[in-house]
Amino acid sequence: MKIIRTLYDMTEFSVRQRDRNASVGFVPTMGALHEGHLSLVKRAVEENEVTVVSVFVNPIQFNNQEDFKKYPRTEEEDFKLLAAAGVDAVFAPTADEMYPEEEKACKEYFLGKASEVMEGKYRPGHFQGVARVLDILFRLVNPHRAYFGEKDFQQIAVVRNLVKSEGINVEIVACPIKRASDGLALSSRNSRLTEEQRSVAPEIYQTLKYSVEYSRDHSVQATHDTVVEHLDSIPGMSVEYFDIVDARTLAPIEEWDESDWIVGCITVYVGDVRLIDNIAYRIPN
Ligand code: PAJ
Repeated sequence: MKIIRTLYDMTEFSVRQRDRNASVGFVPTMGALHEGHLSLVKRAVEENEVTVVSVFVNPIQFNNQEDFKKYPRTEEEDFKLLAAAGVDAVFAPTADEMYPEEEKACKEYFLGKASEVMEGKYRPGHFQGVARVLDILFRLVNPHRAYFGEKDFQQIAVVRNLVKSEGINVEIVACPIKRASDGLALSSRNSRLTEEQRSVAPEIYQTLKYSVEYSRDHSVQATHDTVVEHLDSIPGMSVEYFDIVDARTLAPIEEWDESDWIVGCITVYVGDVRLIDNIAYRIPN
């Protein structure tokens, strides 16, 4: 596996793959890899001749500097996992290499209404930072397909808007959420939970799952309230938002018959660790 550190070397690698007509799959990550990331990598390796993974903790998508500082970094271990998974190249630049000047970090993207709700509302600037880094990465790696996890459900909708508005020719592939055996969605941030916090965190998914049953004979509002009230009653847990939305537009819905594809997206603080998850209430046939 090739380890690439500079923009120049990344471009050279991609041009070579295109020249020999190899299909290129790309998995962008911020490292601290777990089975969730690796499920995307596995799919990319299966579906493409060449797989590139980026490992870059993108400073401009963190609206909270403390969160950025505390974000886990496990580069050596990550590289071992990627090599074992059959990845061809890992792109792991420094922040100076990606954003040599402050101006390079700030370009404004049109990301549509999907970027304004939920994470967009509670993490101002977050999606602009995600868009900036992905715009640069997509142009360097020039993949045929890029793989994203449905754990960050809103991120996928925003990335689809980004590639459309910037005219980037890449297929966005959405992959299902990987969970621990107790239901907790795998996340790099889980490593920051204390033992006690880790033991209550699965309540997030258990409550969402229960709410799907509950929703069969309750309104959208009642379903929303039962989730928030239950999780808020658990010591150390605090729901930041729980939005039940149309899965395509991410606009909030009021009635269950408003859309054939409905998801509930939640963000919960467990102590000072911010965890996100989501569940489908309606899935199109
Ligand atoms: P990161 O949080 O490292 O996630 C990288 C990819 O792994 C994302 O597409 C995310 O949805 C997916 N992923 C994380 N946990 C998952 C799980 N439990 N199951 C399935 N997929 C999972 O998302 C980012 O990084 C960044 O915003 C990035 C796109 C790299 C831009 O900086």
